[in-house]
Amino acid sequence: MVQLTLPKNSKVGKGRHYPAPAGAKNVKTFRVYRWDPEGEGNPAWDSYDLDVDAVGPMVLDALIHIKNHVDSTLAFRRSCREGVCGSCAMNIGGRNTLACTHGWAEVPGKDVQISPLPHLPVVKDLVADLTLFYAQYASIEPWLHTTTPQPQGEWLQSEEDRAKLDGLYECILCACCSTSCPSYWWNGEKYLGPATLLQARRWLVDSRDEATGERLDALEDPFKLYRCHTIMNCAQVCPKGLNPAEAIAEVKAMLVERVV
Ligand code: SF4
Ligand code: SF4
Ligand code: FES
Repeated sequence: MVQLTLPKNSKVGKGRHYPAPAGAKNVKTFRVYRWDPEGEGNPAWDSYDLDVDAVGPMVLDALIHIKNHVDSTLAFRRSCREGVCGSCAMNIGGRNTLACTHGWAEVPGKDVQISPLPHLPVVKDLVADLTLFYAQYASIEPWLHTTTPQPQGEWLQSEEDRAKLDGLYECILCACCSTSCPSYWWNGEKYLGPATLLQARRWLVDSRDEATGERLDALEDPFKLYRCHTIMNCAQVCPKGLNPAEAIAEVKAMLVERVV
């Protein structure tokens, strides 16, 4: 019989338990993925029983409470605390979302389980390694390409052309969509993934950009674009309510239109 072995560090053990403070009346357990690259062991689920009467309403409030009052070794990213920087993306109760805009009371089940964004290498605890994700974003050259001389003032757009960026410009590059996409899990090295492709669409429809042909040439590739199989996980998880699957379909349509 074939003997299967798990990859290094893929087995998550039972971690430490931090009991609630004495006198706590309203206690909720937060189970948090922990892994220290400098430690010896496998990852573990630490559980923190928090007195939620002393904690703000969002999952990020709970994590900050743990770091400030219970266990200062916990690592996670955050910055704006209002859903605009994208840095607190993680998997909460089995769903990729932003910790700062997701209430712990909204998480189904008894305990709140928190882990890093899936299918990425982990730097430490809840911090996922986004190096490839950012390199893919940089590969689409996300800035205005022009050949006509710079105008005296600004590059102007009609209201109608500006409206074409709606549903695209709001992306905060949190990576919730890409890391929930099965095609990206299996082909992440070659498939650009929903976030980068939504951004690609954003530059393709910008009326001021003059490199549409070159941008489409760069995307016309069996892996970069065509690994999207319209499974729609991306649109279901986007915390900004965007629809990367639709943006990808529109890029494919642009490629078809230019050959007919
Ligand atoms: S629709 Fe495409 S990009 Fe979105 S999750 Fe499915 S395969 Fe991934
Ligand atoms: S499309 Fe939505 S989920 Fe994807 S990176 Fe942008 S904001 Fe995040
Ligand atoms: S901290 Fe900025 S989006 Fe959550």
